[in-house]
Amino acid sequence: MKILVTGGAGYIGSHTCVELLNSGHEAVVVDNFYNSSKESISRVETITGKKISLYDGDVRDRALLEKIFTEHKIDCVIHFAGLKAVGESCAKPIEYYDNNLGGTLTLVDVMRAHGCKKIIFSSSATVYGTPEKLPLDETCATGGTTNPYGTSKYFQEIMLEDIYKADNDWTVVLLRYFNPVGAHPSGLIGEDPKGIPNNLTPFIAKVAIGELKEVGVFGNDYDTPDGTGVRDYIHVVDLAKGHVAAIEKITESGVYIYNLGTGVGCSVLDVIHAFEKACGYKLPYVFKPRRAGDIAACYADAGKALNELGWKAEFGIDEMCASLWNWQQKNPNGYGK
Ligand code: NAD
Ligand code: WQD
Repeated sequence: MKILVTGGAGYIGSHTCVELLNSGHEAVVVDNFYNSSKESISRVETITGKKISLYDGDVRDRALLEKIFTEHKIDCVIHFAGLKAVGESCAKPIEYYDNNLGGTLTLVDVMRAHGCKKIIFSSSATVYGTPEKLPLDETCATGGTTNPYGTSKYFQEIMLEDIYKADNDWTVVLLRYFNPVGAHPSGLIGEDPKGIPNNLTPFIAKVAIGELKEVGVFGNDYDTPDGTGVRDYIHVVDLAKGHVAAIEKITESGVYIYNLGTGVGCSVLDVIHAFEKACGYKLPYVFKPRRAGDIAACYADAGKALNELGWKAEFGIDEMCASLWNWQQKNPNGYGK
């Protein structure tokens, strides 16, 4: 199939392009490189030995999308493009709603005009807000999000569901990612955050390589086995494969919602210790107060994706940390942007 991958130069998009190309699909990428670099696309081409049609531009640019859909017969869109920093979204709600909601609206409008009605959307476990139960399954209530980023994901899910309600020819797949981490085993592509990382694993990687002094562990008084926050970390390669499974398995129109996680909760200390195994030495950490807005624990019931898509995560936290360490060592400055 020919797949339009919006935001395909980004962290998850680039790994998904690898899996798409390796599964025999064609990828067309549109990215404005706000949070990525063209280098990731050339590295995807190196890994796979295949070419990507690349468009440098914004998904809110209707004329550009018209051009892409005219030049290519697109069978399906995987929509990654968007802004994703929780803290920044609180400071810049207009930019976040404009980019995330505006981008999706322009995209689906142009898709409709060109008769392409299959979209796979990058949603997030953040739409569950404070979990009503653990593990979280897809029937759990959504909403109650606490920041504009999370709210934009929740709104986008509703928008896409409404589009299906009005026109049952659409196929809408909402993939709720838990905590994607790690990198491609080649060490050629990985996550390349700007500045000091907000997320745990890239922060640990910078401590391991000596760029940052110590890991701050945000809270050790949660109601969790060791008192630190528990999350469902998922290897980005497994996550990428989940998209291919969704494309190949879902052939009927409808709205489909899946958690993409491992079903295993790891604490902050578990992750630090797994990373120590990967890099071979002890990592300094200090306990700090809880981070505002954090929840104690969040992990998936990943059974629906297994039953319906035949997909499950293969890698555990040790492989996630080893692959991240491999990427970090080979690319101490990321893509060098
Ligand atoms: P990323 O920032 O690495 O990738 C997003 C890509 O979209 C970047 O290459 C960026 O340049 C591009 N982009 C942003 N706005 C654009 C626009 N208007 N037009 C064209 N391109 C644009 O982020 P990621 O981690 O790969 O996340 C991909 C998607 O998955 C996002 O929608 C994100 O919200 C979602 N998601 C990510 C996580 C996570 O923890 N990484 C978890 C859940 C959901
Ligand atoms: C994980 C755990 C922290 C940094 C975020 C977004 C979510 C999503 C994925 C998109 C928590 C602790 C962290 C540090 C720490 N993405 N921590 N020290 O907050 O679960 O999820 O990314 O949809 O929307 O909120 O991920 O990696 O920031 O934190 O102790 O320096 O690590 O408190 O328990 P989070 P994270």
